[in-house]
Amino acid sequence: MRLLRLLLCGLLAELLLVTPVLADNTLLLTQSQLSQLQAHGPWPPVIKPDPSNRLSGNAEAIEFGRRLFFSTRLSGDNATSCVSCHAPEDAFASGRVIKNGLLELDRNTLSLFNVRFNRWFGWDGSNDNLWAQSMRPIVSTQEMKLPKQALRKVIRESTFLRSYQHFFGEISAHDDDLVLVNIAKALAAYQETLITKKTSFDKFREAVANKNWTNATQYPESAQRGLSIFLGKGNCSLCHSGPLFSNGEFHDAGVPYFIRPGVVDKGRHQGIIDLKKSPFTLASDYNDDLKKKGAWAVKKVARQHSNFGIFRVPGLRNVANTAPYMHDGSLETLEDVVNHYSDINIERLHADGEAILKPLNLSSQEVADLVSFLQSLSE
Ligand code: HEC
Ligand code: HEC
Repeated sequence: MRLLRLLLCGLLAELLLVTPVLADNTLLLTQSQLSQLQAHGPWPPVIKPDPSNRLSGNAEAIEFGRRLFFSTRLSGDNATSCVSCHAPEDAFASGRVIKNGLLELDRNTLSLFNVRFNRWFGWDGSNDNLWAQSMRPIVSTQEMKLPKQALRKVIRESTFLRSYQHFFGEISAHDDDLVLVNIAKALAAYQETLITKKTSFDKFREAVANKNWTNATQYPESAQRGLSIFLGKGNCSLCHSGPLFSNGEFHDAGVPYFIRPGVVDKGRHQGIIDLKKSPFTLASDYNDDLKKKGAWAVKKVARQHSNFGIFRVPGLRNVANTAPYMHDGSLETLEDVVNHYSDINIERLHADGEAILKPLNLSSQEVADLVSFLQSLSE
């Protein structure tokens, strides 16, 4: 009996000693990388209401927006909703297809997680605010195909009318554009609530900031090696910077911009043309912020030759859950994306002055490490 107890105690002691050593990893990053990575947080950022949208942050308006987001009434065929392409179970994304739909799109559906933190919207930045971006799919002939005159009729004749009048007043006093803007503001209020959670990367970052080395060494060594490439020789963090892992601007990442023979996606070049002629920017009277904060950007932005075929740098939070990748959804897996950067063909880089990217010639271990780091940005 005593022997058994001794044996058990011995086993227990061994477990206690051995387990932490097995679970923990060595810290592989240099001192300068440990401080460099702090720029990718904190997460979540401080949340401030959007001054351009008077419904922003209003709990009742968020619920109104949620009902609209899930409703097929906002479509011409009464069969499509925002969820058809931005389904919650698919991280509010859907690749290039409409779920259960007939149509294939030319662009990859952007996930709506963390959308409130964007500065420009869409792959080409053709909008400078979330409500303007949210009206586009309703009236687009590629998407929900509901002309604005018809939207007004739908709202008047549906259970949405009560909420509409509650927030905006008499609908009969509003023209078609204003109805569209108002509906989009409610949709925006709902989408602002979609924020990704902290991930193992954030826990690592916080542990490093607090010098809690026991917690920091829970972060897998492979992810640490990947992070080191991301910050170092990969130069990834030059464009994928800050807490969102995006500088919010437009670059060429060597993705072909031909849609089909003879047809190109002009990216930011077209985005600026559309932005400049949009009546719904932050510089317009639809902006609820009397100070028109942020409106300078749309006035300042100018089209240049180098804008041709460049696209918005996507944020990388939750990226493991939003395949396929790139503006055209041409890469299926994160491994494909990393291989794309590793073997990048600089002849393909068509925009002027894009001197950051060069072939990295990563080993298969390094590819796996970078993928493991990217996965640590997702839940
Ligand atoms: C037919 C599929 C489809 C439907 C339906 C759809 N979207 Fe989208 N959504 C997309 C695609 C594709 C993109 C990327 C568009 C681009 O860059 O040109 C996108 C982009 C967005 C963006 C920009 C995200 C960002 O990070 O800049 C927002 C916001 C958005 N959609 C909101 C909505 C709302 C609100 C609805 C419903 C009213 C909706 N979408 C309906 C396919 C769809
Ligand atoms: C010059 C700026 C730049 C650099 C450097 C850069 N990227 Fe990108 N990244 C982009 C742009 C722009 C896109 C979108 C390109 C497109 O769709 O045409 C992108 C797309 C991605 C995507 C796809 C995300 C999605 O949701 O579709 C991933 C993943 C990614 N980059 C990871 C990396 C990694 C890893 C590195 C370093 C090896 C890196 N990037 C370096 C600009 C950059």
